[in-house]
Amino acid sequence: MSAQHEPDAWRDKFPILADTTYLVNHSLGAMPVTVYEKLHDYAEQWATRGVRAWSEGWWSSPVDVGNVVGRIMNAPKDSVVMHQNVSVMESIIASGLDFSGRRNKVVYTDQNFPTVMYVWEGCRKRGARIDCVASEGGRGVPTEKLLEAIDEETLVVPISHVCFRNSFKQDAAAICARAREVGALVILDTYQSLGTVPVDVQALGVDMVCGGSVKWLCGGPGAGYLYVRPDLLSTFEPGITGWAAHADPFAFELGEQRLAKGPERMLHGSPAVPSLLAATCGYEIILEVGVDVIRDYSIQLTEGLRKGMLGRGFEVPSDPDPDHRGGTLTIALTEEEDGNAFVAALAERSIMVDHRPDAGIRVSPHFYTRAEELDEFADAMVELREKKSWLDFVGSSRY
Ligand SMILES: Cc1ncc(COP(=O)(O)O)c(C=O)c1O
Repeated sequence: MSAQHEPDAWRDKFPILADTTYLVNHSLGAMPVTVYEKLHDYAEQWATRGVRAWSEGWWSSPVDVGNVVGRIMNAPKDSVVMHQNVSVMESIIASGLDFSGRRNKVVYTDQNFPTVMYVWEGCRKRGARIDCVASEGGRGVPTEKLLEAIDEETLVVPISHVCFRNSFKQDAAAICARAREVGALVILDTYQSLGTVPVDVQALGVDMVCGGSVKWLCGGPGAGYLYVRPDLLSTFEPGITGWAAHADPFAFELGEQRLAKGPERMLHGSPAVPSLLAATCGYEIILEVGVDVIRDYSIQLTEGLRKGMLGRGFEVPSDPDPDHRGGTLTIALTEEEDGNAFVAALAERSIMVDHRPDAGIRVSPHFYTRAEELDEFADAMVELREKKSWLDFVGSSRY
């Protein structure tokens, strides 16, 4: 399948690719050219329809847009809603859980994105016990170790599908199966997987899935998605809530919240309409290319790069088995070398990557990347190392 994938067929749909070697898709995916038109249409609707726009798509956008991104994860219709970001969604979920009983354990790993930890650490005040399972050898948490930590006292398992730091991919199916066995909930953060690694929420039987659109989905900022298993949705009662979650928001009822029966019950206040609309441009193109095709091609490219970097004398800390990684490959530097200076030196040559402490240089091709671009990156790395020209960029700003 990957042999037939042709990156050049997609490149003119992403303006930045005309003059940039764009390998930073784990951070900010390239903008689809269709965003210009989508946001122009949004402005036009605001300008010409005024307040009528709310009933002509704006108010329902969190569910409508959720239905588009939901197709990428095989979610049933009306089981995904849109929010601003993962931090808000994890907070909303946490607000609906009761930590006062014996089942009050939160199990996660030190591979989570820090914001997720901050939310659950904050639940200690409400009685939560936190069990943070440590990773081994700078890679991932062995699945067995994580499964052992999930027991009858576990209430919730909020974990990353693919780790942001080193791209280690957890065995989501095994984790969901174990959690089901003991009656715990799984919240899978698919920020670093959706759009490059296949995710099927129904096959996994996962309880909740959240993530954002900034990275592999090429959807830009401000468009977080939250899937809740439909049979769980109807009974879940978030404490952090707002009028968009009300059964009849425009009745402006006073007093206690009366939650909507449908997916709206997970909402909050007025939606960030332009962000949600812009994000659909990314979802549509991902659906058109197909995640299975993207995944095959990604493995082909990252395997080629892994071998190419090893052959050039670099260490590659990412797991050597592509089944255990997402779409990113990490390249280690020596103690003396400065990762941010390398990144800045590469940016000067219009090669975009980034660097994270304890991980190395993160390199992420996508379906629009040509294999030659990875050779260009690899050769530039050799030159920077050999000539030490990265030294000229020490102290440059980070992103
Ligand atoms: C796995 C993962 N979760 C969450 C986030 C960000 O969270 P938020 O949407 O709250 O900014 C990132 C961003 O890099 C991430 O990689």
